[in-house]
Amino acid sequence: MSRLGLFTLLFGLALVAAEQGYEGYRIYEVTPTNAAQGKLLHGLSQQGYDFLSLSRLVGHPSRVIVSPAQLSSFEELLKEQLISNRLLNDNLGATIAMEFAQRQLQRRLSPITGKGRLSTDRYYTHEEITNYIDDLAARYPERVYVKTVGWSYEKRIIKTITITNGDRRPNKKVIFMDGTFHAREWISPAAVLYVIDQLAEQFDQNADLLKDYDWVILPVVNPDGYEHTQKGTLARIFRKTRQPYKYLGQTCYGADPNRNFDFHWNEEGASSTPCVDTYAGPKPFSEPETVVVRDLMHSLADRGVMYLTIHSFGNYLLYPWGWTNDLPETWMDLDEVAKAGGDAIEAATGTVYAVGSSTNVLYIAAGASDDYAFYAGFNISITMELSGGGITGFDPPASKIDEFVTETWIGIRAMAEKVIEKY
Ligand SMILES: *[C@@H]1O[C@H](CO)[C@@H](O)[C@H](O)[C@H]1NC(C)=O
Ligand SMILES: [Zn+2]
Repeated sequence: MSRLGLFTLLFGLALVAAEQGYEGYRIYEVTPTNAAQGKLLHGLSQQGYDFLSLSRLVGHPSRVIVSPAQLSSFEELLKEQLISNRLLNDNLGATIAMEFAQRQLQRRLSPITGKGRLSTDRYYTHEEITNYIDDLAARYPERVYVKTVGWSYEKRIIKTITITNGDRRPNKKVIFMDGTFHAREWISPAAVLYVIDQLAEQFDQNADLLKDYDWVILPVVNPDGYEHTQKGTLARIFRKTRQPYKYLGQTCYGADPNRNFDFHWNEEGASSTPCVDTYAGPKPFSEPETVVVRDLMHSLADRGVMYLTIHSFGNYLLYPWGWTNDLPETWMDLDEVAKAGGDAIEAATGTVYAVGSSTNVLYIAAGASDDYAFYAGFNISITMELSGGGITGFDPPASKIDEFVTETWIGIRAMAEKVIEKY
């Protein structure tokens, strides 16, 4: 067997283990103090280490899951390379199980009515989110419209909500926002719901954002993955879609929807191996969910000025390109808008967002939705990575949701104001 073949087999076995639970898995925070260490950590991400966050910025911490099988070689590496590190959690399985139990208790104590405003004191299911936007359209029929734009692989309905000021002026400019590309990033739909609440329910305070612009919002791009992460402890940190793919006799689920777009697809920073978290898919737009986003982008492109996609975590405001180190010709416009968001947040709360092109701030990754939107004609295209919380970074406790989403709104509002001023 070739070295690569052997490696792939071992990697496959490690992934099977991960599917069975996270008993004894640890989470480390590692912080590179020079570029060589940053490169080394990035290399680990290509070798079967599951990074919950990964930065190439010196001094910027990353989080990585370390399995019991990886532990001794990982610790040796840290020591040899003098990489600054901190053990954040020594039994991921137990921590996730406890968080699930708490969530279930909260659900029993405060059940959902499904009508009226949604509070920011908990996370919602895809169905609850869909019911909420339907209810908004029923309550504000002059200003709010809901449209079915497609179906997920497992046939869940995918809807957009369009929020206007009700003046029915055709062909207004558009801000297109989406959330929940990645299943485990629960703060993403929470933040998108808060934006919807502000624009629809707090219309009077935000009418300036709707005077010349309509907002088209897709809260849950990846409902199958999102629902999967709510099923139990093993699934909580699942990232991808849910279409099954065969690999070395086993079935692995999903492609990374944010590597599946047909723009320099799978050239860099994506994987061709179905069991890897950044699997690009067997071909561009293999996932019905990315087809939905693509078609929306094209249908809005002549009116669309800003595309904004909400992820977590790491506090970044990223713009194209992700597929190359080069910057687009109009990068200064992108930078101006992203900085407006970062500056507003820092002024309000002190939280610092790193601003820059995806490749220069994070790492090279082709086939992402922000590159595609920019290529499709949106003048401004930004990926926002919100704050992390909880032990994995993907599970801020429910008590933190309000703080996170109100902070996010400050940034989004400032970016929208800048866009409206510029275009
Ligand atoms: C996008 O920017 C170009 C100039 O860079 C401008 O001509 C065009 O009108 C802008 N598009 C929209 C929809 O405002
Ligand atoms: Zn993401």
